[in-house]
Order: sequence, then structure tokens, then C-alpha cells
Amino acid sequence: MNSVILFPRKGITFFKITKKYDIITNDEVNDMLKCPKCGSELIKEERNYRCCNDHCFDIAKRGYVNLVLGSSKATGDDKEMVKSRTRFLHHGYYENLQNRLIEIIQMLQPSMLVDAGCGEGYYTNAIKQSATDIELYGFDLSKYAIDEACKAHCGVIYGVCNVFHLPLEDHNADTVLSVFAPIDINENSRVLKPGGYFIKVGPGPKHLYQLKEELYSDVYDNEIKTGYEGYELVSDEILHNSIDITDSEDIWALFQMTPYYWRTPKKQAEKLKLLTSLHTITEFHISVYRKEC
Ligand SMILES: C[S@@+](CC[C@H](N)C(=O)[O-])C[C@H]1O[C@@H](n2cnc3c(N)ncnc32)[C@H](O)[C@@H]1O
Ligand SMILES: [Zn+2]
Repeated sequence: MNSVILFPRKGITFFKITKKYDIITNDEVNDMLKCPKCGSELIKEERNYRCCNDHCFDIAKRGYVNLVLGSSKATGDDKEMVKSRTRFLHHGYYENLQNRLIEIIQMLQPSMLVDAGCGEGYYTNAIKQSATDIELYGFDLSKYAIDEACKAHCGVIYGVCNVFHLPLEDHNADTVLSVFAPIDINENSRVLKPGGYFIKVGPGPKHLYQLKEELYSDVYDNEIKTGYEGYELVSDEILHNSIDITDSEDIWALFQMTPYYWRTPKKQAEKLKLLTSLHTITEFHISVYRKEC
């Protein structure tokens, strides 16, 4: 794999995320959402969003809007998965990725950023808190994840929707971010401006290698793929770290966050419940693409 790092880490000012930020509600943010039924602009009213064709979407108590049409059967992560991921992430095991994404976004300086498949906003909220002037949208198909994400009240515009049908105008976004989430590259291209950036995070070759060793007798490195038609790869890196988990509930929470949770036979998975500590490599493959003009 050709590895190019156009964002050298030397000389970068590290951001310290301040926990003392002003509470901003969604009411104070001007958003530009599109109606999922007819594509017209949605106008925000007191308790809902409405388009000129009178399609109406309620704003939930927590401040987000659900734009998934009743006819859709697609659902995102369930309550239990969201709870596990929230627990694990908030214990800081992936903080290095959070910091690295903040650095990259500082360098790209987008005015408008979309986190497509944002989950419970662990990365989204931190990005917003480090650069409050960004117009930031967080979308996920899981209403449980979005409900959790909204708790930070930091001015991110959150919506429940499918990343395959983003409720945004064409060619308006400067950057789309996708962290361990499904990707529709055509939909990303539709919403991105020419020259806009797509940041993709997936597992590196050795990501969670020792967790896999606990589950399987034959363990392989993850395959890394890069390249999208219509995009230039401008930066490609592996963020390597190792973590020590000394809480069995955190080990189980991590397992629930991975695809292995669905693939592993129950008997094998039960073995993990007996583990009281786990030392494992984490590796994030971060690639930054620039949409061709
Ligand atoms: C592995 S999680 C990653 C969440 C978050 N980016 C993170 O890293 O913490 C994948 C997320 O994608 C969401 N998801 C799955 N399919 C989706 C779709 N078609 N549209 C939007 N979100 C989707 C799930 O609900 C889940 O929150
Ligand atoms: Zn409409």
C-alpha cells in the first residue's frame, strides 16, 4: 500500500478539548435540511420541520429530527449496542483517534462538515467543541445513538437518517467524515463541493488482534483497501496504539462494538466473559480523499 502523509504530525498544535463550553441548543443553529419526501427545503418551526409541500417531521425532546420515512424498514444500532459503545468510548480507549481527527479537521478547515454514521457523537461532539464555528451535521440511522449524541448540547445538528439518502442539498458540504460506518460514495459525491474532502476511518491491519486471538484459533490481519473513482487520495495513515482493558464489562462492550459479536458462536463468545483483562493493539486506518473538481 502506498502510504502518503500530507499532514505531518510534527509542529501540529494539539488541541486540548475544553470541557467548559457554552451550551448551544439546536434552536440557535441555522440548518439547511432537505425534505426526504420531496427534496424541498425544510423550514424549522417550534416543534417540527416542514417543507413547502406540508411534509412535517417532529423535533424530538432532545432536539434532533427523525427523517426516516415510515415506509423504510432500515434500522441502525439497537439500544444495547449504543449503550455498550457509549460506555467503551467514554472510558477513553479511542481518544487518540478523536484527537487525530480533530487535528486533521483543523488542517482542512471546513465550513460545513457531515459525520455520516456518527453513532453517539463521540467524534462529532469533540470536533464541534474544538472548532465551534463549523456547521456540523451528525446523521445516523439509530435513534438511540442520535438521542445519546444530543446530550452534549454543543450545537451539532443531529438527525436520524440513512447515509444512503442524506437530507442535504447537492454540492454544499466541504467535508464528509465516516468512522466505521457504511459508505455510499455516490451520495457523498452528491453532497460534497468539488474539491471537498472525504475522511474515512476503518480498521488497520492489526486492529484488535489480541481480542481476535481470544475468540479464534486462526487470526488474520485485516485487509486494507483504498481508492474511490472521482477522488484523489491525499493522505493515508495507520494510527497505531495498544490499550489495556482491566474491566470485564469494558471488554464485553468492545466485543459488542465489533462485527465479531455477530459472527462468533455463542459458546466461543462466552469465554470472553471470563476475561478480567485484555491487552490489545488498536489500529485505525485513516484515509483522506479529495473530490475531483
Ligand atoms: C460501528 S458504528 C460507528 C459509529 C460512530 N461513527 C463511531 O465510530 O463511534 C456504525 C454506525 O452506523 C450506523 N448505521 C448503520 N447503517 C446505517 C445507514 N444505512 N445509515 C446511517 N447510519 C447507519 C449504526 O447505527 C451505527 O451507529
Ligand atoms: Zn416535502
